[in-house]
Amino acid sequence: MPDVIAYGGDWNPEQWPEETWEQDVALMREAGVNRVSVGIFSWSLLEPVEGVFDFGWFDRVMDLLAGNGIGANLATPTASPPPWFATAHPEALPVDADGRRLHHGSRQGFCPSSPIYREKALRIAEQVALRYRDHPALVMWHVHNEYGCHNARCHCDTSAAAFRTWLRARYGTLDALNDAWGTAFWSQRYSDWAQILPPRATPSFTNPGQQLDFRRFSSDALVELYTAERDLLRRLTPGVPATTNLMAGAHWDMDCRAFAAEVDVISTDHYLIGARPEPHIDLAFAADYARSLGGGRPWLLMEHSTGAVNWQQPRNLAKTPGELRRNSLSHLARGADGIMFFQWRQSRAGAEKWHSAMLPHAGTDTKIWREVVALGAELAGLAGVAGSTVRADVALLVDHSSVWAQDHPAQPTSELDPVEEAKRWHAALWRAGVTCDVAHPEDDLTGYRLVVVPQLYLVSDAGAANVEDFARRGGVVVVGPYSGIVDEHDRVRLGGYPGAWRDLLGVTVEEFFPLAGPIRLASGTTAGVWSEQARATTAKVLDTYEGGEPAWTRNQYGDGTAHYLTTRLDDAALAEVLATACREARVEPPARSVPGVEVVRRSHADGRSFLFAINHTDADAPVTTATGETVTVPAGDAVVIPG
Ligand code: GLA
Repeated sequence: MPDVIAYGGDWNPEQWPEETWEQDVALMREAGVNRVSVGIFSWSLLEPVEGVFDFGWFDRVMDLLAGNGIGANLATPTASPPPWFATAHPEALPVDADGRRLHHGSRQGFCPSSPIYREKALRIAEQVALRYRDHPALVMWHVHNEYGCHNARCHCDTSAAAFRTWLRARYGTLDALNDAWGTAFWSQRYSDWAQILPPRATPSFTNPGQQLDFRRFSSDALVELYTAERDLLRRLTPGVPATTNLMAGAHWDMDCRAFAAEVDVISTDHYLIGARPEPHIDLAFAADYARSLGGGRPWLLMEHSTGAVNWQQPRNLAKTPGELRRNSLSHLARGADGIMFFQWRQSRAGAEKWHSAMLPHAGTDTKIWREVVALGAELAGLAGVAGSTVRADVALLVDHSSVWAQDHPAQPTSELDPVEEAKRWHAALWRAGVTCDVAHPEDDLTGYRLVVVPQLYLVSDAGAANVEDFARRGGVVVVGPYSGIVDEHDRVRLGGYPGAWRDLLGVTVEEFFPLAGPIRLASGTTAGVWSEQARATTAKVLDTYEGGEPAWTRNQYGDGTAHYLTTRLDDAALAEVLATACREARVEPPARSVPGVEVVRRSHADGRSFLFAINHTDADAPVTTATGETVTVPAGDAVVIPG
């Protein structure tokens, strides 16, 4: 990795008269911008009429960047096909589950399985690559933009045919598919592949196996679109890294891990959600996930915002003074080697004109501009951080397949949300100053001391065995309720829940009892939402329900231990359980501070390190490092302590 932190954002000069472009690059230099993403939404200008290309204006954009020493994440503009595409190929527009064909007029208006879309997308990508493959501004390929953000699933006939092809490859025979989907139930047995549809609107629940496989197929279709473009770019520009900006932790329709396996550099976008009381912890989850997707290597924050977003929320909140800097440093602390924004210059027109930017509507005499310039200078001073990594002793397990399976509406309760639960457990660790990786149950877990499983309703045989193996070799595991329940086809693991991990946990569960309200456990702590009627087989019971059944257990397993929670503890009690597990696993934060202060260490292989201490509170806070030195981090401020 280069010893510089990439800094910049999406530059969309096509939205502006050419006279502004010189001013743009001059201001970019003033702000310390060294990287921009260009061309993301330029298809209708680069190919104004089907098959007719106009690169003259874009040549000037690229030349301006090169002339000013600013690198380009050059996009293939395939995320937004022009109106001519929809008019000429209406069959390529996406169709929702109700059979409604969507119209053009926003973006991502295409069916991911459409051959004609793929053909036209590859043609414009090829034109861009041929034109700029030797251009000095080209640093990285920014393929497409947020695959599946709006068109993650298409239910049209073309998708139906592609789904059948995918199913044939997965199952080989109809008997295997019927068995996996449990089609004997409700007389759904298929006798011909042609009978199988995407899960379109039905009178009652669709088949859970069908809906799960359709989610997998839909994600795979998007990954395939990415790899088709990536392969073309690799052929034309070997050596130029390619990425696509994920939405790790925020958008769960696409399997980030499958994309991560195909990109040269992990890049992701993150935006604060107005309704979240502590959005900086959600940010940390996304950043930890991005880092983990790349196996710990540095990643690129492709987009975040300088202020408000422009979405359908009751209130799109502006950032308070200093928040932009704290957010940026949090991403940096958690392994980003680049801090970029949507977008460079705030739009005057179009659907996101109220979305903040580096250069706001009001110009340069503004809080945002001053913060943008200051951040550019600060990141330049932190260039030594680039290439360093974050070591996490804890892995928190998530799996898209499990999230998708649990998304089927026929569940014992609709109040257990696996993503929110994963984020709540992550938040408990964040508050303890413990940085965790967000890993997959089948990932290599050998380097961790503690593995936490907030809610993994579905786990494959391989994933279940991997977690068991981790404990057997001496690791500490904490499993939350409604985990290890079904196999990879969403079929219940029989003989007592959680079928995947009865031995590991030393517990067997007979029946679920969702709760109407909060309850008190014997220890006095509060739980809610969910309870299970469990019996400890080999586990020790650490806390119980009023009737004496186990609520929290601990089992010796091989050289390790496995805790199990049969209920959803409140935040304070969950923090206690995780603190106990951290002590057992000898997991320590890199520094001690007070609630609301984020502490993370990045280190180089040669031992140089940087301790980030970010104070999200409105009071000055002491931070005590591992060597016993105490520094005061002023309210809302952050310090980076080299070591
Ligand atoms: C996404 C997109 C951007 C922009 C931002 C802000 O991340 O990639 O083009 O729409 O959201 O809303």
